[in-house]
Amino acid sequence: MERPFPTVAVVGLGTMGAGVAVAVARSGRRVIGVEAGPAQAARALARIEASTARAVARERLTAEERTALLALIEVGDELTAAAQADLVIEEVPEDLELKRALFAELDRICPPGTVLATGTTALSVTRIAAATARPERVLGVHFFNPVHSMKLVEVVRTVLTSPQAAEQVAELARDLGKEPVAAGDRAGFIANGLLFAYLNQAAAMFESRYATREDIDAAMRLGCGLPMGPLALLDLIGVDTARTVLEAMYEQSKDRLHAPAPILGQLVAAGLLGRKSGRGFYTYEAPGSSRQVAEKSAEAAEAAARPAAREVRSVGVCGSGTMATGIVEVFAKAGFPVLLAARSQEKAERAKAQLAKSLERSVSRGRLSEEARDAALALVTPVSGYQDLADVDLVVEAVAEDLAVKRELFGALDKIVKPGAVLATTTSSLPVISCATATSRPQDVIGMHFFNPAPAMRLVEVVSTVLTAEDVTATVLELCGKVKKHPVECGDRAGFIVNALLFPYLNDAVRMLEEHYATVDDIDTAMKLGCGYPMGPFELLDVVGLDVSLTIEKVLHQEFREPGLAAAPLLEHLVAAGCLGRKTGRGFRDHARR
Ligand SMILES: NC(=O)c1ccc[n+]([C@@H]2O[C@H](COP(=O)([O-])OP(=O)(O)OC[C@H]3O[C@@H](n4cnc5c(N)ncnc54)[C@H](O)[C@@H]3O)[C@@H](O)[C@H]2O)c1
Repeated sequence: MERPFPTVAVVGLGTMGAGVAVAVARSGRRVIGVEAGPAQAARALARIEASTARAVARERLTAEERTALLALIEVGDELTAAAQADLVIEEVPEDLELKRALFAELDRICPPGTVLATGTTALSVTRIAAATARPERVLGVHFFNPVHSMKLVEVVRTVLTSPQAAEQVAELARDLGKEPVAAGDRAGFIANGLLFAYLNQAAAMFESRYATREDIDAAMRLGCGLPMGPLALLDLIGVDTARTVLEAMYEQSKDRLHAPAPILGQLVAAGLLGRKSGRGFYTYEAPGSSRQVAEKSAEAAEAAARPAAREVRSVGVCGSGTMATGIVEVFAKAGFPVLLAARSQEKAERAKAQLAKSLERSVSRGRLSEEARDAALALVTPVSGYQDLADVDLVVEAVAEDLAVKRELFGALDKIVKPGAVLATTTSSLPVISCATATSRPQDVIGMHFFNPAPAMRLVEVVSTVLTAEDVTATVLELCGKVKKHPVECGDRAGFIVNALLFPYLNDAVRMLEEHYATVDDIDTAMKLGCGYPMGPFELLDVVGLDVSLTIEKVLHQEFREPGLAAAPLLEHLVAAGCLGRKTGRGFRDHARR
C-alpha cells in the first residue's frame, strides 16, 4: 500500500495531541498542529520542544532527528490550516459537544476526501461522526498515554466507517511503529472496556472492606503479574476520569458491574482525584507526585494489636500433586522439617522425587546452591497416610479440589493432629468454613491460598473464616514472612481477592469475543500493549484451563448471583467440546498446529 496520509493535522496539543504530533512527525510526515488560541499554541510548541529534548537526553532520539522532526511540525490556532491535511486527528478535551462542534467545522473546512479521526476514550464515535456529512470518513483512533512508549492503537469503526479508511489509519499506525487493533464503537473500546470493569470491582471490593487497599493491590501484582495494583492505577488514571468512563460504559451496557462504585463518586465529590490532586485511594507527597505517603491506617493499628503467633517448628503437607509438591519445597527451602503425607508411600515418594527434580532445576539455573538443595531435601520425609502428622505444628492440605474429599481429610486430621496445631487448606474455590466444620476445632482452621508454581509465586491469600481464631491468622501471617511469601488477608468468600477480580475480567473478554466485537488476537494484544499485562486474557485462559476457569466463574456467580458474572456461553461450549486449553491442545487457540 502507498504510504497513507502524507500530511496530518492534529487538533488539540495537550497530553495526547502533543504525543501524537511527535509520533507522526517521527515517521517523516508533515504535521499541522492546531490549538485553541495563540497562548495555547505557544504552550503546546514549548511542550513538544521540551518532550523531544527529554527524548534526546534519554537517548530515545538523536539531536539531528529532533531537529528534523521539529521542522515538520507547525503549530497555530487557525483550524482552517487543517484543510491542507489528508487526515485530521482530534485530541481536544473529552466533551461530546466540543467534539461534535469541532467535527462539524472540520467537515466544512476540509475537502471531502479528508479522513477525520477522534481521539476520544469513551464518547460515541458514531455521534461525533453524525455531526458531519461524511460519516464514512470518520473513525476513532485511540492512542495510549504516553504515546511515545505505548504501542497500542485502537482503530474504531462505526457502522458507517468505510473499511478502506480504517485500513489506511491502521497502516499509518503501523508506520508509526504501533500495533493497531480493530474495535467497534462501544464505550471503552477493547482495552479500557475490559480494564475499567475490573478497576470498578476492585474499588467496590475496597469499599466493602473485604480487604485493604494495600492487600488488593499486592494481590493483583503478585498473583497476576500486573504492573500495578488496581487502586494505585485508579489514582494514576484519575478517579474522575475513571468514573466518567464507567458512566459511559454503564450508559451503553446497563450492566450493573459497570455502574461506578459509590466510593468513586465520593472521592470525586471530595476532590480526591488521585495522584493529580495528591490524594485518592492513597495519599501522595504532593499533587502530581507518584510517591505515596505511608499512613497509619485503622488496619495497621489492628494488625499491631494482633495476638501473639503460635510457634511453628514443623510442617505437614497433605497431597502429592503440583501444589502439594510446590508447597513442600517452599517450607523445606525455608528450613522447616516437612512431612509429605500422601495416600500411599509410593505416591509420597514420587512427590519427593518431583521435588528433587524441581530443586535440581533451580541448581542448574544457578538459583540454588547444591548444599541448599541437599539441606532442603534432607528436611522432607515422605509418609503414607496421615497418622504421622500427630506432632506437627501446621498442616497444609493440598489434595483434590473436591469438598467431600477435603472434609473427609479434615475430619481425619482432627482425630490425629495434636491440639493447638494450625490446619490450613489451600483451596482456591471451596469455602474454608466447610473444611473447618468437618473438625471439632474450627478456630484452628484457615485458608492459605498459594499460587502455582508455589516456589516462584510470592503471593499467599490468607483466608480467615468467621470462626478462625485471631492468633491462628497471626501465626500464618508471620509464617508467610518466614517462608518469603507476601501474605494478603481476606475473608472466606468465593474467589478471595485475585480470582474474584481476575475471572470476571476473563469472562468479559470471552463475551467480547462471543459478540464479535473483536478478535482473540486483537483482545490479547490490546491488554498486553494497552495495559502492560504479561498475557492476554485468551492466552491466560488457555494456560489456566477452560474447565478450571468455568468452575471458578460458576462458583463466583453462585456466590454473588450477579447476572454479569454468569459464565459466557462460549466458554461452556468450548468446555463441552473438550477444548480445555493447552492441556488438550486446543482452547481459544489451536496449540496443536503451532
Ligand atoms: N490522557 C490520557 O491518558 C488519554 C489517553 C487516551 C485518549 N485520551 C483522549 O484524548 C483526548 C485528549 O485528551 P488529553 O488528555 O490530551 O487532554 P488535554 O486536556 O491534555 O489536552 C487537550 C488540548 O486541547 C486543546 N483544545 C481545547 N479546545 C480546543 C479547540 N477547540 N481547538 C483546538 N484545541 C483545543 C487544549 O488547549 C488542550 O491543549 C480526549 O478525548 C481524551 O479522552 C486521553
